[in-house]
Amino acid sequence: MERTLSIVKPDGIRKHILGEVIRRFQEAGIRIAAIKMIHLSKAEAEGFYAVHRERPFFDSLTDFMSSGSCVVMVLEGDEVIRRNRELMGATNPAEAAPGTIRKDFATNIEQNAVHGSDAPETAAFEISYFFNALEIH
Ligand code: CMP
Repeated sequence: MERTLSIVKPDGIRKHILGEVIRRFQEAGIRIAAIKMIHLSKAEAEGFYAVHRERPFFDSLTDFMSSGSCVVMVLEGDEVIRRNRELMGATNPAEAAPGTIRKDFATNIEQNAVHGSDAPETAAFEISYFFNALEIH
């Protein structure tokens, strides 16, 4: 059994796709072990995306991520890191496969509707960034 962090980003919340994203997770047999709505400060967004600090898009990305509410979730299931990334599709919606969340709902490569951890180590860091042990069920 594996865990991963999912975020429905501010563009996704503004487009009212939260229910559809959850529906896709549950239809795929992925369990939601924790969920909450948050509004990141600029500093909190910078901390979450610290690995991207040197990238040219870092300032714009963290402005966007602190521009409105997000919903963060801990997803649980067999191979859930890979399966969530399959459901999300490629980072750039122009390259995402048909039927994926980003193909269907993302605005562009930055405002791409959802985030999902890319490996067990990043999942552990990202889950602990938002949830303590008592909040994961
Ligand atoms: P995410 O999966 O959350 O991981 C890092 C984020 O940076 C990514 O989704 C996008 O929101 C953003 N991102 C990645 N590449 C670019 C890019 N070339 N230009 C702008 N934003 C990007």
